[in-house]
Amino acid sequence: MAVPDQPIGWFNPEKPHKPHNNKRRPPTARQKRAQVSLDDGWTVVTSSSTTATRIPTEGTSAHAHPKLPQEEGLTVQKLQQEYERYTEIFRASECARTVEEVLKRPRREEDVGWGIDTAVCVGLGQLSVEAAVRRRAMWQLVLFLHVVEGLQGLGGGGGERVKISAQEPNFTALDEELLKGLGVEVVAHPRGAEMVTERTFLYAPFLPWYVLLRDVLPGKDPRLYVGIDVHEVQERVELQKGRYRLEEVGDEELEECLQVARKFLEGRQRVRVGEFEGERNALEGLWVYWREVEEG
Ligand SMILES: C[S@@+](CC[C@H](N)C(=O)[O-])C[C@H]1O[C@@H](n2cnc3c(N)ncnc32)[C@H](O)[C@@H]1O
Repeated sequence: MAVPDQPIGWFNPEKPHKPHNNKRRPPTARQKRAQVSLDDGWTVVTSSSTTATRIPTEGTSAHAHPKLPQEEGLTVQKLQQEYERYTEIFRASECARTVEEVLKRPRREEDVGWGIDTAVCVGLGQLSVEAAVRRRAMWQLVLFLHVVEGLQGLGGGGGERVKISAQEPNFTALDEELLKGLGVEVVAHPRGAEMVTERTFLYAPFLPWYVLLRDVLPGKDPRLYVGIDVHEVQERVELQKGRYRLEEVGDEELEECLQVARKFLEGRQRVRVGEFEGERNALEGLWVYWREVEEG
C-alpha cells in the first residue's frame, strides 16, 4: 500500500462526515450482518443499513492479490540484503533501546522471561513494492523481529522459543519467501487473530483501529503489544460518539469496539516507541503496551 501522508489507523480528516443519527436502536434490534465475497480477496460486510466494511475473505491466499505492482527485477536476495542492512542500523537506534528496556522489566520467575510463545504480526503491508514505498514496512518488520529476538534471548530476553506468524492480505509470493527465510510463517485471515493468546506478542503496525478492536483483540489478552495508541483510539472514539456517524463501524459495533479498548487498557503500562532516526514516519505513532507483574 502507498505510504500514508497522514496519521494512519485513525479517522481521515479529509473524509466527509455524515451527520449524526441520534436514534440508537435498542440492543435487541441488532441487525444481521450480510457478507458478500468479492473477487479481489475481500469480503464486504454490511453492519447496518447504511454502513459496510471490507474485510479479507476467510482463507484468502495472501499472495494472490498484490495491491501494488512489484518493483521490476526485485529478488528475495535483494530484500534479504536490505533487511540485514536495516537491522544493523536499527540495532543502534534509540527505538531499539526503548523496546529492549521494556523487555528487561521484571517478569514472573516461572515464566522464564516473558513466557511468550507466539509472535503475531497483523497488517505489516506489502514489502515487495518499489524501494521508496517498501521502506516503511521493512523498518516495521525489523522492529518486529528485533522484539522477537529479544524475547528469544538473543538480545537479553528469557531464552524462550517463539513461533512467529504474519497476516496481511497484500503479501506477495516474494514477501512470503522473504518472511519464510526469516522464520515467519504467513497465515491467512483470520488465523493470525486466532493465534493470539495471553502468551502472545501481538504486533499490529498501524493496523486500522476498527480491524484491531473488532477482528483481532476481542476476547484476547496479549502479554505484549506493539501497535497504534489504543488510549488515543479510545479517547477519540468516545469523543466522536454521538457526534458523527462513522463509516467504518456501525453504531453497535462502535460500542463493542470501545469495550474491547477499555478492557485492553485495564492495568496496562505503555511507552512510545519514539521517532526513529532512520526513517521519520515509519515507527512514529507506535506504542508498546504490557502489564507489569504484581509484586510480592
Ligand atoms: C494502514 S495500512 C498499514 C500498513 C503498514 N504497516 C504501514 O504502516 O504502512 C493497514 C494494513 O493493514 C492490512 N490489513 C487490513 N485488514 C487486515 C487483516 N484483517 N489482517 C491483516 N492485515 C490487514 C492492510 O492490508 C494494510 O496493509
